[in-house]
Amino acid sequence: MPLADTCEVHPRTRKRKRASAEEQAGFRPPEFTSTLHPRGQYRQSPRSRSFSLDHEQAEPVKRSMSAEADGLGYERTVLLSQTELLGFLGVAKMDQANICNSFSIMSAFKFENTADDVAAALSEHIKGKNVVITGASPGSLAFEAAKSIAARKPGLLVLTARSEALLQQTRDAILTETADINIKLVAYDLSKQETIRKAVSQVKALNVKFDVLINSAGVMAPPYALTAEGIESQFGINHIGPFLFTNLLIPQLNESATIVNVTSRGYQLGNIQWDDLSFKATPYNKWHAYAQSKAANILFSNALARVLADRHITSYSVHPGTIFTNLARHLTQEDYDMLAGIPMEYKTAQQGAANMVIAAFDPSIKDRSGAHIDDDNQIKPIPEQFGYATGVENEERLWALSEELVKEKFVY
Ligand SMILES: NC(=O)c1ccc[n+]([C@@H]2O[C@H](COP(=O)([O-])OP(=O)(O)OC[C@H]3O[C@@H](n4cnc5c(N)ncnc54)[C@H](OP(=O)(O)O)[C@@H]3O)[C@@H](O)[C@H]2O)c1
Repeated sequence: MPLADTCEVHPRTRKRKRASAEEQAGFRPPEFTSTLHPRGQYRQSPRSRSFSLDHEQAEPVKRSMSAEADGLGYERTVLLSQTELLGFLGVAKMDQANICNSFSIMSAFKFENTADDVAAALSEHIKGKNVVITGASPGSLAFEAAKSIAARKPGLLVLTARSEALLQQTRDAILTETADINIKLVAYDLSKQETIRKAVSQVKALNVKFDVLINSAGVMAPPYALTAEGIESQFGINHIGPFLFTNLLIPQLNESATIVNVTSRGYQLGNIQWDDLSFKATPYNKWHAYAQSKAANILFSNALARVLADRHITSYSVHPGTIFTNLARHLTQEDYDMLAGIPMEYKTAQQGAANMVIAAFDPSIKDRSGAHIDDDNQIKPIPEQFGYATGVENEERLWALSEELVKEKFVY
C-alpha cells in the first residue's frame, strides 16, 4: 500500500511547481553531490550481470570530469560527462535517492522483481483485460511484458511493432508458453503518421474497448534522420508517433483505463530544445535528441493524467532500468568503450518489463495518476533540476506543439 510521502509528488489535478527560467532556458546537468568512481573500480555483485560500486577502493572523481576525459570528443562535453551517463544508466541512484528523504513505497515490488513476478501477484487484475502493447518485437521489453501478461489470461492482446514478421514470432513465442490467448497483430511505423492512422483504424475495427495501453516502442541514439513528416526521428518515433497513436485510441479506451509511457532516465541527458526540436539549425546530438524525446514521454504522461482525470483514465511513466535489448543497435564502439568503464546494475529484460506491468495493473497506484515509476519499481518525483520534464506549462507547450506536428487537435 502506498505510504504518505514528504516529497513533491504531483497528484493529477495539482499544478506542478514551475521550472525556473534557467531550467526552461537551457540544459542543466545534474548536480550530483556524492563521489563517483573511476572506471575499473567496481566489483561484480552476486547478482548475475550486475555490478556495484566498491566504495572502499574507489577514488573520488571530480564532478567536472569532461566527456573529453572519457574519450568522447569535446563537442559532447555538456551531454556526456561520465556523471550524466551514470545518472542515465541508473547507477547514480544514491544521488537520486538523496533528493528527498522519503518517497512512496507503492508496493512490495523491488528492483529485482520480474514482469512474471508482478503479473503473478496482479493476476486477478489482468484476467479478462484488453491490452494494447507497442514495440513488442522478440527480445524487447514489451515482448517480455506481453508474455507475462498473456500468462494471466487477458481478454485480448493487441501487439504492435514495425514488422509483421517479427510480430508473428512474438505471437508464436507467446502461444508456445500459453495456449488459447486471443492475440491480434498490427504492424505500423511510428515514423510515418499515415501508417499510425491506418493502424488505429485496424484496432478500432476490432470493436472492443481497451483497459490498458502500454507505449513501449522506441529507438535510441540513431544517426540523424527525419520522419516522413520531417521530424527528427527520435522525437518523431518516441514521442510524436505515440502522441498520435494514443490520442486516436482514446475513444477506444474504457473508463478507468490505464496508459503507460515507457520513458528512460536518459531524459536527464538534455533539455527539450523547443526552438529546434529537429536539430535543423543546431548540430545533431544523438543523446540530446534521445533525452528530449524521453522528457516528452514524461510530460505527455502527466498531461494525459491531468486531461483525462475526469474520465478516470490514469497514466504513468516508467523507467525500466538498463537492459541489453535491440535498443542498443545504434551504439558505436565509442559508446561501448565508454559504457565498459561505467559501473552499472543491469537488469534482465524480464526485470526491465516489471514496472510496465505494475503501472498497467496495480490497483494500489490508481490514485497516483501521473506518477513516474523508477527502475526500483517505486514511485519517485522528477528531481527539481530537470524542470524541463515537469510542469503544466511544459506539458501544454508540448501538447500544442505535438498537435501542430500531427495536424490534429485533441481536446478532452
Ligand atoms: N533497454 C533499455 O535499457 C531501456 C532503458 C531505458 C528505457 N528504455 C525504453 O524502453 C522502450 C523499449 O525499449 P527496448 O529495450 O524494448 O528496445 P527494443 O528491443 O529495440 O524494442 C523497441 C521496439 O520498438 C519498435 N520500434 C522501433 N522503431 C519503431 C518505429 N519506427 N515504428 C514502430 N515501432 C518501432 C521496435 O520494432 P523493430 O523490432 O522493428 O525495430 C521494437 O519492437 C523504449 O521506449 C526505450 O526508450 C529501454
